[in-house]
Amino acid sequence: MKTKRVLIVDDNPSLVDNLVEVLAGENYNVTAMSSCADALDAARKGFQVALVDVRLPDGDGTQLAGRLKEASPDSEVILLTGFATVESAAAAVSAGAWAYLVKPYATPDLLLVIGQAMRHVELQEERRELTQRTQIAERLALVVGTMTAGLSHEIRNPLNAALLQLTLVERRVGQLDSEKRGAILEPLSIVRSEIQRLNRIVDDFLAFARPRELERQSLTVNALLDKSFCLLTAEADERGVSLEREVDEAARIVGDETRLHQVMMNLLLNALQATPRGGMVVVRANAVDREWVTINIDDSGPGVPIEKRERIFEPFFTTKDGGSGLGLPLVHATLAQHGGSVRVATSPEGGARFVLKLPRARG
Ligand SMILES: Nc1ncnc2c1ncn2[C@@H]1O[C@H](COP(=O)(O)OP(=O)(O)OP(=O)(O)O)[C@@H](O)[C@H]1O
Ligand SMILES: [Mg+2]
Repeated sequence: MKTKRVLIVDDNPSLVDNLVEVLAGENYNVTAMSSCADALDAARKGFQVALVDVRLPDGDGTQLAGRLKEASPDSEVILLTGFATVESAAAAVSAGAWAYLVKPYATPDLLLVIGQAMRHVELQEERRELTQRTQIAERLALVVGTMTAGLSHEIRNPLNAALLQLTLVERRVGQLDSEKRGAILEPLSIVRSEIQRLNRIVDDFLAFARPRELERQSLTVNALLDKSFCLLTAEADERGVSLEREVDEAARIVGDETRLHQVMMNLLLNALQATPRGGMVVVRANAVDREWVTINIDDSGPGVPIEKRERIFEPFFTTKDGGSGLGLPLVHATLAQHGGSVRVATSPEGGARFVLKLPRARG
């Protein structure tokens, strides 16, 4: 529990003794001072609530209230006065006092006012801490985002240069006689696919750390799938997995084509990687609902066990050697940015089903 510090400024010893006793009994940490000068000194050590007599030997309590507020803006001052006049009340308020008590006051009244002031100060402190924390988090996100963008750029440039050189090497190897060709081209194709994989990870990381504004357009699910199917057919063949689609021609969505293509690539690659030889990956989409288009990415792999269904969307969660664990968090973030959703279920083939909901385009 935080200490609740009360500063008493009064030059009447018997009243002070009495106050100290009452407040200490309420678990307040009390400091008592009898002059303005001493009070300002003591205020530097920190206090939450100050009880200040209006008449002090070396000055005016109302003025002291203003200076105490200056020294500690989050704290509150309660003024104690012998006379209740409109002028003194107005002066107390303009000096920034929280409350104004006329002597003699009843102890329960005093405790009530101090309690209220204390709660107010605590609330202010909490609010300030919260704002500070939010600001720190925002600044951190900005710095991390900028750093990531810079780093990704630095990685992508040499990767693209390597890819260019690789194309050159492949072309030259292509001119060799066929015997030697095969033995060289095969490892080269592995180098190419590894470079592409790195490029994809950089893309995912960048999109996740620093999502850009969406460029929305109306597009059919079939058009969206054309590109990813074209890019993944060879991979599917190699794995001995059939890649199919059962998509309603009328399924038309509103979304950012590049970002949704990235989503499809991630989900289809996951599905292909999970499915054993002889299995299948099917994309199914319908336009039954007026507001939403549902796209299911189904596979005949082992599926995702119930206890892992939340975790797979967490950044860096992966069960694969060399997996980044960024694919699904990116899918989740992109769908959320589109106002849609993604969840995992079980496919009719017994494997995983990823259910995407995206806003349907009108007309
Ligand atoms: N179709 C699926 N079937 C079974 N498990 C899946 C499927 N898709 C994803 N998972 C599980 O979710 C985890 C996280 O997937 P995510 O795409 O985020 O990262 P990753 O695939 O492991 O790494 P990367 O995408 O970089 O290759 C996977 O490691 C896997 O355990
Ligand atoms: Mg993945």
